[in-house]
Amino acid sequence: MLHTPICDLLGIQLPILQAGMGIYKGVVTTPELVAAVSNAGGLGCLGATGLEPDELLQAIRTIRRLTDKPFGVDLIIPQKLSMREGTREEIRADIRKNFPDHWKLVQGIFESQGIKPSVIDKEYSLTEEMTDAQTQIIFEEKVPVFVIALGDPAKLMARARAAGTLVAGLAGSLGNARRQVAAGVDFLIAQGSEAGGHVGVVPTFPLLPQVVDVSGAIPVVAAGGIADGRGMAAALALGAQAVWCGTVFLFAEEANVHPIHREQMDKGRSEDFISSRTFTGKTSRVYQTEIHKVWERSGLEPLQMPHQKVLMEDFLDAARAAGRLDVVSSPCGQVAGMLNGRRPAAQIVHQMAADAETVIRKNYACLV
Ligand SMILES: Cc1cc2nc3c(=O)[nH]c(=O)nc-3n(C[C@H](O)[C@H](O)[C@H](O)COP(=O)(O)O)c2cc1C
Repeated sequence: MLHTPICDLLGIQLPILQAGMGIYKGVVTTPELVAAVSNAGGLGCLGATGLEPDELLQAIRTIRRLTDKPFGVDLIIPQKLSMREGTREEIRADIRKNFPDHWKLVQGIFESQGIKPSVIDKEYSLTEEMTDAQTQIIFEEKVPVFVIALGDPAKLMARARAAGTLVAGLAGSLGNARRQVAAGVDFLIAQGSEAGGHVGVVPTFPLLPQVVDVSGAIPVVAAGGIADGRGMAAALALGAQAVWCGTVFLFAEEANVHPIHREQMDKGRSEDFISSRTFTGKTSRVYQTEIHKVWERSGLEPLQMPHQKVLMEDFLDAARAAGRLDVVSSPCGQVAGMLNGRRPAAQIVHQMAADAETVIRKNYACLV
């Protein structure tokens, strides 16, 4: 059986971690998915970025009802929340005043798509208060593993130690990996640019060994483009002790993915999943829609986070309410090009581990 040192650190059987995926109100990585992966011997992880603190607490309690195995919670904590702090309404006013062409473009998109303009009146996922409240719950609940994306975990390490929570830092570049090492994280996740969601520019193959080289004694987990035993064996060969997979678990029966997005993922070719700043202001890999093409034709550069996020979330929210999921951003990695259909999460975990073992044994067998 595949078993690496990080399995003992995390208290799991198989070195397969299901990535936290926290898009829109945290609906994708359901407690059922997280628990199914943990019960199968991997580590399930809740993507908590879009969850209100009370929703996060309920989700953690549901996971604990479904499994007694270790699990994780992932939060995106941006290093800098804004180029100018403010509520959604203040940020909208700033866009109207200082970026009128961007504002007009999005009003035009509402009109051309036949979607009635509206604005989000809740502040979720934007403020520092929100991430502070979420973090507080993670520590109070003594969640076994806390994965931090984008931000600097240094200021949270002492509280994590006190709660007995292991901290992982997600790094999309070598510079970011070095900062995570300096912050003293318990393990690193090196995420290549072929991944779904927020990404850097360096793919997994060149990024991973470089991160392994600067990680010292800190274990490294590979992310980006890994969906089967072949990818897993390659990641282990490059120095990773485990894999962190998002896209393949979007194909799990327990994942909550809208049927329209399921169809895009089933039919999409790898090149249909593009890295773009259109929806949040940070480069994110998503299925390409008509909205990307409109922005491209306009020649306008998307704004920075969170201005672009506020601008586009109003559109996304209205499009969702109108059932127009075809124009709603659907984060997904390039590896979706080789995936389709639904499988139970446990089957994904067991098959990936078994196939990786076969690939590794086969490679040893060819040595003479
Ligand atoms: C739908 C979706 C949502 C994601 N949301 C988050 C998130 O909230 N926080 C995070 O750290 N990473 C997020 N990611 C990135 C994953 O954690 C992971 O690094 C990535 O999926 C790995 O690459 P793969 O998609 O090729 O498996 C998301 C990825 C997807 C596909």
